[in-house]
Amino acid sequence: MPDLAAFPRAAWLRAERAVLAAVTPADFGYGSPQGAPALRRAVVGWLARNRGIRAEPDEVVVVAGVAQALGLLAQLLRADGIDRVAVEDPGSLGARQQLEYGGHTTVPVPVDAGGLDVGALRACGARAVLMTPAHQFPTGVVLDGERRRELLRWAAGGGVVIEDDYDAEHRYDRPPYPRCAPSCPTGSATRAASPSSSPPPCGSAGCWSRPTCATPWSPPSGTRTSATASSPNWSWPG
Ligand SMILES: Cc1ncc(COP(=O)(O)O)c(C=O)c1O
Repeated sequence: MPDLAAFPRAAWLRAERAVLAAVTPADFGYGSPQGAPALRRAVVGWLARNRGIRAEPDEVVVVAGVAQALGLLAQLLRADGIDRVAVEDPGSLGARQQLEYGGHTTVPVPVDAGGLDVGALRACGARAVLMTPAHQFPTGVVLDGERRRELLRWAAGGGVVIEDDYDAEHRYDRPPYPRCAPSCPTGSATRAASPSSSPPPCGSAGCWSRPTCATPWSPPSGTRTSATASSPNWSWPG
């Protein structure tokens, strides 16, 4: 949790004023449920500059935080025939619950000083894993190089990596952690990020990108969502 007293009120107000002065009346209507195109373009630029991730605006969904991204992903995985997701142990109770609300069985996989035990992941038989490789929650360990290579080999065999970029910005003693997403084989990684630990979580926002795919991972027909950050009463087209 950031220092709530340090919220940059003046800068926030300046930004709000600048945006309100520039928007057109149409901008106050229902926008793209995937997120305003200008915002998605800005997110894509940020991902490239800060994370070395190449993505197209069409591959980004603006969400109300990692929790909502997981709720959406839970539906997509089930539509893809996946209903067991490996999670870190210890790990985030809230993240696990989002998957369980989405109808998944979560399978705990141990974490040690090197991060997630990828051998145990392989042995558990789950086809997807949710993990925090850059800054494991709650231990703070970083997935070590050999584990990372092993994870990528697992993904190359068809495993899906859901990378929660939890607290990745908060590092003072090491270089940026290389994202798993750009290195995973096409179609096997998806990445959810949220700024909840920089500005306070009340302004919950986030983005979900699937940067490695050649074609966007369109939600299957019939997948439904609750309200998103961008539009109430939204369902995926199709
Ligand atoms: C492991 C983990 N990931 C992500 C988040 C951020 O979640 P959200 O974006 O839904 O606020 C949290 C917040 O506590 C967390 O514990």
